[in-house]
Amino acid sequence: MAPEERADAARLLRGFERRFLAARDLRSFPWQSLEEKLRDSSGSELLLDILQKPSGDSVTLCESTAIVSHGTTGLVTWNAALYLAEWAVENPAVFTHRTALELGSGAGLTGLAICKTCRPRAYVFSDCHSRVLEQLRGNVLLNGFSLEPSIDAWAQHPGPHTPEAERPRVAVAQLDWDTVTAPQLAAFQPDVVLAADVLYCPETVLSLVGVLRKLSTCRKGQQAPDAYVAFTIRNPETCQLFTTELGRAGIPWEEVPHHNQKLFPYEEHSEMAILKLTL
Ligand SMILES: C[S@@+](CC[C@H](N)C(=O)[O-])C[C@H]1O[C@@H](n2cnc3c(N)ncnc32)[C@H](O)[C@@H]1O
Repeated sequence: MAPEERADAARLLRGFERRFLAARDLRSFPWQSLEEKLRDSSGSELLLDILQKPSGDSVTLCESTAIVSHGTTGLVTWNAALYLAEWAVENPAVFTHRTALELGSGAGLTGLAICKTCRPRAYVFSDCHSRVLEQLRGNVLLNGFSLEPSIDAWAQHPGPHTPEAERPRVAVAQLDWDTVTAPQLAAFQPDVVLAADVLYCPETVLSLVGVLRKLSTCRKGQQAPDAYVAFTIRNPETCQLFTTELGRAGIPWEEVPHHNQKLFPYEEHSEMAILKLTL
């Protein structure tokens, strides 16, 4: 293969791998370019490369193709979930041997990527919508994790600290930010809290700040959990409302520097950010 052909094939292969790893819709794969390549002599080599990829661990997801279905946005993976997962994969120490509580987990991509690559001690996925919770449980099992049989029993007895344990304890909890109480949240004993793409309208911003305020009263030892909130900047006013409300709740925040490694194929032009909150 000529050098420029090789570079072209490598680009095509990377496109395939990213979409595959991000469990993207099959329609978004670069089929047309592949078909063109298969017509020339370099095609068979490329096809072999594709069939041998991806190497390493991957996350498998069952999700909807519609951005809103069954009255919820939680049945599909959003870009901020991919962005937060990338950041976590680059910063595993934030999660290693720690208990993570995720708010509004949706399809579960961020948490599953963390469970597979960051060695958390325990990971609690949560959401408020019954259909989302059903799909989330399925996705956890699909990726080879077992679910804690009873979230109440687990929260009351979070178990001994076993840093050498290979696999995290995983639970899926029905948790509505508006109705959950501080003692219920404290029972999970989270060291780190995270949420992706949950700032889409003023009501959710207020609910989210409400639950973060409750979490700020949950101390494990002397320490309140760290929180990371990732979002796509669609409407600057909604983001502004979030930081204003954090200020009113007395929760300091800082923006996490953008990471370099792009693993997933989210739209190039969508602007994303992660805020680290000190609860
Ligand atoms: C846009 S989706 C994001 C899902 C996932 N984090 C992602 O980025 O792919 C927002 C999620 O927040 C959940 N959510 C919204 N309001 C909630 C509330 N008051 N309590 C708990 N979850 C809520 C929804 O059910 C939905 O799963």
